[in-house]
Amino acid sequence: MASSLEGTHQLFYGSFIYSKSLDQLEYLHDAAVAVSSAGKIVAVERECGGKDKALEKISSRLGWGSDATTGFSKEVYETGEGQFFFPGFIDTHLHASQYPNVGIFGKSTLLDWLNTYTFPLEASLSDPAKARKVYSRVIRKTLSHGTTCAAYYATIDVPSTNLLADLCLAAGQRALVGRVCMDQLAPSYYVDESPEASLSATRESIAHIRQINPEGDIIRPVITPRFAPACSAPLLTKLGQLAAEMPGLPIQTHISENKGEIELVKELFPPESTGAKDDSYAAVYDAFGLLTDKTILAHAIHLTESEADLIQQRKAKVSHCPCSNSAITSGAARVRWLLERGIVVGLGTDMSGGYSPSVLEAARLAALVSRHVAMGGDETAKLSVEEVLYLATRGGAEVVGLEDKVGSFEEGMEWDAQLVGLGVLGEDGQVEGQEEEDGNVDVFGWESWEEKVAKWVYNGDDRNTRAVWVKGRLVHERK
Ligand code: GUN
Ligand code: FE
Repeated sequence: MASSLEGTHQLFYGSFIYSKSLDQLEYLHDAAVAVSSAGKIVAVERECGGKDKALEKISSRLGWGSDATTGFSKEVYETGEGQFFFPGFIDTHLHASQYPNVGIFGKSTLLDWLNTYTFPLEASLSDPAKARKVYSRVIRKTLSHGTTCAAYYATIDVPSTNLLADLCLAAGQRALVGRVCMDQLAPSYYVDESPEASLSATRESIAHIRQINPEGDIIRPVITPRFAPACSAPLLTKLGQLAAEMPGLPIQTHISENKGEIELVKELFPPESTGAKDDSYAAVYDAFGLLTDKTILAHAIHLTESEADLIQQRKAKVSHCPCSNSAITSGAARVRWLLERGIVVGLGTDMSGGYSPSVLEAARLAALVSRHVAMGGDETAKLSVEEVLYLATRGGAEVVGLEDKVGSFEEGMEWDAQLVGLGVLGEDGQVEGQEEEDGNVDVFGWESWEEKVAKWVYNGDDRNTRAVWVKGRLVHERK
């Protein structure tokens, strides 16, 4: 029995941290996690009493007798001092096509930002060479920051959208890949010719993505109406019908990001024209069958109580994008308020409305923005380190429909993980065993694990992301 399993499993040993609940992290030390060749966590052992004992325990658990060397393919990955395994981050909203513009937004706000910076860049990616360069880079960059799963918007161009899917699959990054639909209120050089053309281009991209990854374990297509103002009623109707025809498919769009945008929606979609229950933004998506339990709504800043009720009833999810909301001055989303209403929330970088490719940065900014909400009068609004890490992992997993697969290290989950390493200082005040300039997180030695994690959240970056795995496959390693 042992021989048939030989060389098929990976073993991870040491410290593991993951979210147990919204406000609680689980800390496992001297623990071991065995991952099958299919990338599944098949055994977790706690308090092993050292690495050798961990190997023995796992081997006997998996029916290999006491011969610890039998079933494991490679060297055991072991955490050193100041290191721990953490679930991979989930970026629930970003525009792969906008990556070249990160940091370039001046003092713009949403609608002028789209016209000035965003549409020209997105249109230029119909050049296949440029698309390859941009998309290759954005995947490498986000993986290096620990993003094991991303919900991407590409552009309206089908070949380059399909290329993004090909590149994600090759790199091993889980992704939702959406071909952007927009047939109005956009410049003539960057707009779908008709609702029919938009729908058939969307179908073409969905077919490609399903063909290259039929199991959908790594990449999945996502229906992507850009946002209501950029879509005609006939287009929204068609996309709602498509969602009903393919009920497994996720949907992603933007909602209630900017006051001018909200006014525009009220003008463009009066309830008498759509049959919506009122003149709210959420009711517009609902009227077209686009508010479902598979819908990812980015921003959701200025929602009314009744919109929150509707979103909760439909079980639609929210992607909170604090970097973008601050950079292009959209507002401060009330995450506590959303959570209290039973709405599932994850984090998004929203590049390049947001300027950073890092979900860790998004977590940090979620904590800061929540403090601004608190300073506005609601003391309960503040999010803790534990809470923002939950949003970055388990919350995000639920937003993209992968809560049964990723976000924690329980048996049966898949190994989407990052090895985090903090800078542990020696007697001489230098980081032990490393170059001095190895990140901003200095560990003096007296910190509790809770404090180390807080230091990581507030000062960590990609230098602390030593290695990244998706479904058991090593997809990034920091040399
Ligand atoms: N609303 C419509 N399009 C976009 C976009 O590309 N980024 C953001 N942040 N909001 C949008
Ligand atoms: Fe966005």
